[in-house]
Amino acid sequence: MTDKHAYHIDGAVPETPENDPNAGAWQETSVVGTRQARIDAYERVSGTAVFPHDVSLPEMLHGAILRCPHAHANVLEIDTTEAEKMPGVRAVITGKTAGADMPWYERGGRFYGRLFDDECRHEGEEVAAVAAETPLQAFDAIRAIKITYEKLPFVIDEAKALEPDAPAVQEGGNMVGEPRVRERGDLAAGFAEADVVVGRTYRTECQIHAPMEPHGSVARWDGNRLTVWDSTQGVFSVQGTLAKVFGLPMSNVRVIGHYMGGGFGAKLETGKYTVVAAIMAKMTARPVKIFLPREDCFTVTGNRPGNTMKIKIGAKSDGTLTAIEYDSLGSTGAYRYNAGTGALPAYLYQVANVHAIDTTVYTNAGKARPMRAPGVPQGAWSLEQAMDDLAAELEMDPLALRLKNIPTTLQTEQNPAFTSPHLRACLEKGAEAFGWAEAMELAPDEGHLKRGVGLAAGMWFYPGGPPSTVIVKLHADGSANLNMGASDIGTGTKTWAAMIVAEELGVPLAKIQVEHADTATTQYATSSGGSKTVPSDSPAVLAAAQAVKHQLLAFASEQLEAPVEDLELRELEIVSRSDAEKRVAVTEIEMLGRRGVIMGTGYRDPNPEDTVTFPFCAQFCEVEVNTRTGEIRILRFLGAHDSGRVLNRLTFDNQVFGGMAMGIGLGVTEERVLDRQTGKMVNANFHDYKIPTMLDVANDHASHPVDQPDNDFNSTGAKGLGEPATIPTAAAVGNAVANALGVRVTDAPLTPQKILEAIESKRKEA
Ligand code: MOS
Repeated sequence: MTDKHAYHIDGAVPETPENDPNAGAWQETSVVGTRQARIDAYERVSGTAVFPHDVSLPEMLHGAILRCPHAHANVLEIDTTEAEKMPGVRAVITGKTAGADMPWYERGGRFYGRLFDDECRHEGEEVAAVAAETPLQAFDAIRAIKITYEKLPFVIDEAKALEPDAPAVQEGGNMVGEPRVRERGDLAAGFAEADVVVGRTYRTECQIHAPMEPHGSVARWDGNRLTVWDSTQGVFSVQGTLAKVFGLPMSNVRVIGHYMGGGFGAKLETGKYTVVAAIMAKMTARPVKIFLPREDCFTVTGNRPGNTMKIKIGAKSDGTLTAIEYDSLGSTGAYRYNAGTGALPAYLYQVANVHAIDTTVYTNAGKARPMRAPGVPQGAWSLEQAMDDLAAELEMDPLALRLKNIPTTLQTEQNPAFTSPHLRACLEKGAEAFGWAEAMELAPDEGHLKRGVGLAAGMWFYPGGPPSTVIVKLHADGSANLNMGASDIGTGTKTWAAMIVAEELGVPLAKIQVEHADTATTQYATSSGGSKTVPSDSPAVLAAAQAVKHQLLAFASEQLEAPVEDLELRELEIVSRSDAEKRVAVTEIEMLGRRGVIMGTGYRDPNPEDTVTFPFCAQFCEVEVNTRTGEIRILRFLGAHDSGRVLNRLTFDNQVFGGMAMGIGLGVTEERVLDRQTGKMVNANFHDYKIPTMLDVANDHASHPVDQPDNDFNSTGAKGLGEPATIPTAAAVGNAVANALGVRVTDAPLTPQKILEAIESKRKEA
């Protein structure tokens, strides 16, 4: 008996045959790895899926939050008299209201500031809130609240934030902690060894998550029990924060997040709006709904920090890297987070001598949050363009230069081996499918439309792992329920989970229902982020399905009077291998009929020790740059991803294409613009903030998974994908544009203006 798949029949713990061919890693699969439309596709496209934004409860009030219009100001006085008298208004709260006068938490539980702070450190900080019968009454009422502000000096520029006379965003100066240093070897010796050294300063701008569904919640109290519907990536994380804030046992707090319209990291933290809704719901004894206006989703719900990155790389004439020096500066906004980008430059390639430093500063701007591979697409923007610069200096093919420097370990002090080191496979497979060699041979264009190709690689630093607990229930009619705590953040979690149950038990997908993301009715799971939902939860799903299967086989063994080792489960029938007469349909298993249900519980086993598991990737693109207008057209994009076993090829490919779209945003179209005079964001809307559209992404996109199950890592062999999919994208575009123009634009996004300026400076040089 292994403790791995523990289960109980009538109190006894039966033997699990060590040689059970059905246990452990899949050899061949019939459902897993295929292309399956989402099991909730109908609900999603028909509008019957209830997103938190759709939740409407009887007697529900609507909340609105009054926000500071200044980049930095003290609240001197708040007069709510007029607002309180307005039609439909049921509650008005400020930092002085009993029950709303509370400190605020940051992720990880440390306090920062207050729910309503008298000092507003960026545009959009919460000052007061109203609950009213209708949303418009609530918004009218917050406009009637009179605030006297004392405007304070502000700083929005990262470099200026470190100047001695810069306005202090937080007490104790504008440095966020100590700079993070990653170093190994001897940098000076590494550069002394180099035949060629290249270096430049790169820049990425602040990018906003911009999920389709705004941030928001509905809160309802039943006595001392709180229920919250939240657009979140992790219901258990929100449950934990709310329990702490309201001093309740976790069991009194129910958080439900069945659907959510995108988060990308911006919905990992509990929002102030959730707590504000719950406070006003308690005061009014009515449910309260707060969903943020779109503008607030730009200013207060997080961003990918902008970064200035200095990089210098040395290599021998054969392309062997000898040294990387890296220095990155970024801003977390007004509250603590980490704007580091140094991980990829430090670890993507085999290089003995590295010094990478990350400095994060406070500025008077909205707080950064994790955004789809936090820090890593920025690191790729600088590292992977520097690698192309180096290839040019060495007169090497950019692909060959990368292949020369593939690591098989994570080059930290412990130097752990990668369980599946497939960076090489990503580059080679991608290059072949893309036609890289042929593309490199293309003659330069004569006209004003210049084509170019580029590639970039990446790795992602989060393997996933325990805890995760999943329950599978097999019903007497052969249908199944899958019960798991994980959120499906739009990636298809429910579908691959159902596919694993279908694979293991032979239950058709149409007969599997998934319950998930509800703290009251599903098991604990960590938040869906870090590209770790698949690698964390898929082994627990498999273990739960196997626990059901083992019980079925044990029951069938008694019924058929055949040893368990002789039995196998095929398409909802249990068959003896040695005697074809001995067979029984699952629905005819007497114990199943008698009990009505068989339940299997699966737990996520720990990751192996002394090794490390990361996903790898390489992306390739072809662009056409119009040298008259400076516009970039992205002609084709190809992603070659090593994310271990592919569970659902359809949603796998869609993740890759979605990641590319987001990376194109970072590289070409998106930029938070803060007004230098006021410190306020001037493009906090979907018109002026340019999310890539179908016209901006490639017509021709392709996904070529490496698809090597990593069976040393976990029982499904699957690794993460969501974040890797966006890591190399912007850098690949940057390299393709440089290839097209013969001049590199180091600052993202690659706007027509910057392209034209680069063409002009090159013309002047010539
Ligand atoms: Mo992600 S940035 O961990 O949602």
